[in-house]
Amino acid sequence: MRTRTNGELRLENIGEVVTLTGWVSKKRDLGGVVFIDLRDRYGITQLIVNPDNKNYDKAVDVKNEYVLKVTGKVVERSSKNKNIPTGDIEVEVEELVVLNVAELPPFLIQDQTDALEETRMRYRYLDLRRPQMQNNMLLRHKTCIAIRNYLDKLNFVEIETPFLGKSTPEGARDFLVPSRVHPESFYALPQSPQIYKQLLMVGGMDRYFQIARCFRDEDLRADRQLEFTQVDLEMSFVDEENIYEVVEGLLKAVWKETLDMDIQTPFVRMPYAVAMDKYGSDKPDTRFEMLLENISDWATKLGLGFFNDAVNNGGAVKAIIAKDAASKYSRKEIDRLTLLAKKYHAGGLAWLKYENNAFTGSVAKFVTEELGKELVETLGLANNDLVLIVADKLENCNSSLGALRTALASELGLIDKDKFNFLWVVDWPLFEYSEEEGRYVAAHHPFTSPKDGHEEFMVAEPAKAMAKAYDIVLNGYELGGGSIRIHDQEIQAKMFEAIGLDKEEVELKFSYFINALKYGTPPHGGLALGLDRVVMLLTKNNNLREVIAFPKAASAKCLMSEAPTPVTEKQLAELKIKTVK
Ligand code: AMO
Repeated sequence: MRTRTNGELRLENIGEVVTLTGWVSKKRDLGGVVFIDLRDRYGITQLIVNPDNKNYDKAVDVKNEYVLKVTGKVVERSSKNKNIPTGDIEVEVEELVVLNVAELPPFLIQDQTDALEETRMRYRYLDLRRPQMQNNMLLRHKTCIAIRNYLDKLNFVEIETPFLGKSTPEGARDFLVPSRVHPESFYALPQSPQIYKQLLMVGGMDRYFQIARCFRDEDLRADRQLEFTQVDLEMSFVDEENIYEVVEGLLKAVWKETLDMDIQTPFVRMPYAVAMDKYGSDKPDTRFEMLLENISDWATKLGLGFFNDAVNNGGAVKAIIAKDAASKYSRKEIDRLTLLAKKYHAGGLAWLKYENNAFTGSVAKFVTEELGKELVETLGLANNDLVLIVADKLENCNSSLGALRTALASELGLIDKDKFNFLWVVDWPLFEYSEEEGRYVAAHHPFTSPKDGHEEFMVAEPAKAMAKAYDIVLNGYELGGGSIRIHDQEIQAKMFEAIGLDKEEVELKFSYFINALKYGTPPHGGLALGLDRVVMLLTKNNNLREVIAFPKAASAKCLMSEAPTPVTEKQLAELKIKTVK
């Protein structure tokens, strides 16, 4: 239908007769001459229709988003547009065919759109016409190509695993699919291909990968969708170092192919304990400092009840310092920060401003001259520094100050948006205690191997057991996670015992998997990257919806199709399902 696209014509094409197709992006009627910006995925070309042209009346009538096919000659523009690659030329229309008409779109189809996100979601097919969205989709495609090429070279095999399977233990709620053939029985959509990929290692596939769709029925957040995509991989006969090398190479290839950027490898490795202690997060953003400081020793000298109580009850007093920010935070602003700290489980927020060699703030009257000097020295305070303090259980100090740290860095403009700070978070505990369930649960998932020699702690002293697990973190986001797996059935049985699964439950849920471990399972390990998050960060977005063609809104709905919707009585009857109101 067309001979050229709208992004490719340049000065050297002058004189050529071309046929173009696309959408009307803009039409201007300038005193008898009609200018049309014709848009397709490749760019925009300006068309010019003169009054003596037989198509003139048709051109006057076209509206935004009409679909056109035009034939005409490429000519040099008299007034050039430096902002677009085709800005030196225009096409003098000879033939103009309206291939389709369009209703007035509900928002402007351009990067700086006036649309509310809800409208963009409802008319996603129009939103996808915006150059920005097209670039995001293209970059996502390039990312997948780079991943496939890189892994193929390393002997990885792409294998699909079932959507209709049995529940997998990634810790979220399953999406269930009722079976018509087996009434009262359900498939579970995979939260990840975890068990299948391990079975592929038992099956001798050696190196597997899959760009795999995963389903988790959890609350949506900016970096969480109900269905999302993992770059899932698994390797036999490996240790952690082999996995780090493959994944670092993979990300290097992706950044090179998509952004033409050389990222430095190997990545920094940070023990989990340091991440929590210094950054208050298991996914630290290392693009800025503002580290958490433990000031328990100093704080207990103040004679302040709630400082002493926190420390005496096994907790701590910790602080962050917002450099040169005291004058920027009024009392009202600090009240706002206090609410944020409380949201992240702090009992409250104490604060000190250091200005003109003196302290003011909520606990200033307890800071004697001597204690003031000591604090200035230990924290290296300078004029106009703001110190935010939480006294609580250690994990509450960390979570609240960790959240404040990121919020303040963003408010104070401390984050270099051009940086990509990758790191491995290593040395994870094998278990974490779930207050809700009153038992230990697997910190990663229950197929994660303990560190060598830590098998003995698994049941006896679970808090002491460390895991062969690792997360990859980028700019404060968990990009991926994985582990070396348990390949010994006895250790696997111990794992289930440690997390309180009884034999019956294990039998019911995992007997096929435990069985497989009996038949010569190779040592193996792997990792999964969140593809949506990778692309979100590559495109400098902060919401996954920008890089998924048809995402769900925060309400867990598809605003375009309105899914989920009720189904007919007949469909339910076939499945032998009755709904209750
Ligand atoms: P995990 O549960 O850590 O590990 O998931 C791996 C990565 O997937 C991404 N991710 C998500 N992205 C968008 N929306 C979600 N709801 C969501 N949940 C997870 C994150 C995360 O780091 N089977 C293991 C991997 C392994 O051990 O090999 C697993 O699924 O980027």
